[in-house]
Amino acid sequence: INYSAVILAAGQGKRMLAGRNKQFLRIDQIPLIIHTLTVFQEDPWCAEIVLVTNSKERESMEELLLTHDVTEGVRFVDGGAERQDSVLAGLNAIQNTQIPVFIHDGARPFVNRDSLHRLAETTAEKGAALLAVKVTDTIKQKTGNQLSTLDRNTLWAAQTPQAFDYDLIVKAHQQAVDSGYYGTDDASLVEKMNIEVEIVEGSYDNIKLTTPEDLHKAESYVRNLRKGKEM
Ligand code: CTP
Ligand code: MG
Repeated sequence: INYSAVILAAGQGKRMLAGRNKQFLRIDQIPLIIHTLTVFQEDPWCAEIVLVTNSKERESMEELLLTHDVTEGVRFVDGGAERQDSVLAGLNAIQNTQIPVFIHDGARPFVNRDSLHRLAETTAEKGAALLAVKVTDTIKQKTGNQLSTLDRNTLWAAQTPQAFDYDLIVKAHQQAVDSGYYGTDDASLVEKMNIEVEIVEGSYDNIKLTTPEDLHKAESYVRNLRKGKEM
């Protein structure tokens, strides 16, 4: 099953407190965005990659890809102010609209191929799906003064990629623009259309690098991977 990918790298990485876009930060010598791109580039099912960047960073990003030899099949497009704006810009740049499109955070470098393929299979069959993992914490909800406990068996932590039939997700984004709605992920826009979105169980390794602590986690994850390979 072929799919196309929109990879988002146009954020500012404010919560990483690095003074620059976290996509350029190195994990085990290699920039974050290069780790992420490599996963998709090495997947034979991935037919096309649109990389969404900030226009001011486009040139340095292009250079980075050249340096690390990951330019093949990658096209650049400028992002927008919010993540959702960046996604729509990426979708508009996709060439093959007949295959599912994966929308992925550049800040999630550890998504594995098995997850990608199970996601592709489910999306090909059902039209809309996302990777998610079971919530392990007990989640409390406080409305006013009333505390309650949510049923953990119904709770999932959403990840990316989130994958959709191309026409469906473009329509969902257009409706969101029309109504001025901003969601925190892409699946929520499809949910608003009362269309079912499937959950594909992913891996707890598929973290999004958000804070400095996540960078430490990522370093040790990559180091352990390498140790495993050397043994
Ligand atoms: N992103 C994007 N365009 C935006 C905002 C975010 O392409 N206008 C991308 C980020 O580059 C990131 C992904 O969306 O890969 C997930 O967003 P997040 O983790 O929030 O990254 P940032 O927005 O960069 O970080 P922060 O919110 O801490 O500033
Ligand atoms: Mg953000």
